[in-house]
Amino acid sequence: MADYDVIVIGGGPGGYVCAIRCAQLGLKTACVEGRETLGGTCLNVGCIPSKALLHATHSLHEAEHNFATMGLKGKSPSVDWKQMLSYKDDVIGQNTKGIEFLFKKNKIDWLKGWGSIPAAGQVKVGDEVHNAKNIVIATGSEASSLPGVEIDEKVVVTSTGALELGKIPKKLVVIGAGVIGLEMGSVYARLGAEVTVVEFLDHITPGMDAEVARSFQKLLKKQGLDFILGAAVQKVDATKTKAKVTYKLRKDDSEATLEADTVLVATGRKPFTDGLGLDALGVEVLPRGQIKTDAHWATNVKGVYAIGDAIEGPMLAHKAEDEGMAVAEVIAGKHGHVNYDVIPGVIYTAPEVASVGKTEEQLKEEGRAYKVGKFSFMGNARAKAVFQGEGFVKLLADKDTDRILGAHIIGPAAGDLIHEVCVAMEFGASAQDLALTCHAHPTYSEAVREAALACGDGAIHA
Ligand code: FAD
Ligand code: NAI
Repeated sequence: MADYDVIVIGGGPGGYVCAIRCAQLGLKTACVEGRETLGGTCLNVGCIPSKALLHATHSLHEAEHNFATMGLKGKSPSVDWKQMLSYKDDVIGQNTKGIEFLFKKNKIDWLKGWGSIPAAGQVKVGDEVHNAKNIVIATGSEASSLPGVEIDEKVVVTSTGALELGKIPKKLVVIGAGVIGLEMGSVYARLGAEVTVVEFLDHITPGMDAEVARSFQKLLKKQGLDFILGAAVQKVDATKTKAKVTYKLRKDDSEATLEADTVLVATGRKPFTDGLGLDALGVEVLPRGQIKTDAHWATNVKGVYAIGDAIEGPMLAHKAEDEGMAVAEVIAGKHGHVNYDVIPGVIYTAPEVASVGKTEEQLKEEGRAYKVGKFSFMGNARAKAVFQGEGFVKLLADKDTDRILGAHIIGPAAGDLIHEVCVAMEFGASAQDLALTCHAHPTYSEAVREAALACGDGAIHA
């Protein structure tokens, strides 16, 4: 039996980052993880494997569509699916082993197994009970199911099954036009599958700036994804090799069906807290399953904290990581802080879509006076040279003070470009601050500067 200053339950981006920061701050730390490898959903069955498949299939798309134009002639590559999956698994392995190395380097004990909290100050793993002055719950989330839909992870799959299908489906039906549906839908569309996305709402990607969502949908349609919007899925009937999806159109209640080899259910995720013993411990849980925490990630039980997907807020790896670092600092007696107003969101399709801060719809709802600076990648030389002239940067700034309120980018490297705006927002910058900053030519980031110029006297290349 060992005594710890902190035991973190869960070794995902929230948990492992928290454990590392605790150790760096001089706290004796252990992390409990039940999976065979560290890294949680993100490294094992989420962010990392999906990005590997997105990269591989984007490369295929480039070879098929753009190589000949650049004078690179010859047969397009054929797809060796098994090899693509094995490349993806190698990428996962490199990353999860990296976390194991960091644990050793920082002298963090990995307690292997599933943890529970029999009492405040105690964590049970297998038959052993460990004492801990502080416990951080970072147990993440799992895919939520849909009534009338049984997941078998072979024909009817969540993202986990979609990352290791036995073969590339001819017809894929995706339920839910959110982040997972569109990323994985793009992967299989590029691999030649006929992809139909069925979405309950009348638009894709809820919460996204509506103008960006409309452009995004148009671009995805051009890439071959088909959309059925305003459709409530009623049930999925599956055999060992096929499935039939029945949905009802909300506008007229008419029912229709779709046949598929594979159905991906991507209708959101829910916190995973099974087996922790939260009920017996008396930890307050919100109606949608999230652990209730205060502004310092403390639950109502003294010495028990919670972070990441298991609590409220966007289910994003970097949000979990930031909370992991901040709660470690709180436990060490410092001032941990997360600025929830500046958490970027990125969809790693091609083009990428990225956003931070307020959408135009939110600003209208708040009755706020704002201005819009927009710049199309068509006016960006670098983007045009690499066949990525579609898309735009949209910057939202306060009408009177010029302070940046939000940014929405659809275009090349949007997921990287957004961080320039994040830093600007952290410093309370105005659009003019961005516009006055010299940006190297030719870079995609010039489009961000041009959008900032468009908030003032006008973009140059528009
Ligand atoms: P998790 O990563 O879920 O980790 C929790 C860990 O706790 C798990 O390993 C679990 O095994 C372990 N655990 C649970 N209960 C116990 C217990 N009782 N005892 C021991 N261990 C336990 N986010 C992004 O920001 N960018 C992306 O590109 C992105 N892509 C994604 C793609 C997919 C397909 C999916 C599904 C998610 C993606 N996400 C992405 C979301 C991201 O994975 C999560 O937001 C992030 O992993 C949350 O981190 P976490 O530490 O809170 O939980
Ligand atoms: P999501 O919340 O992004 O999208 C779910 C979609 O399903 C919504 O559009 C919703 O309206 C729709 N839906 C819900 N019920 C439905 C029904 N019965 N019929 C049809 N449509 C229905 O959830 P998703 O895509 O499953 O992703 C889960 C989480 O994982 C997200 O919160 C996201 O933050 C995270 N993630 C992040 C990624 C990134 O940052 N790039 C990549 C993948 C996942």
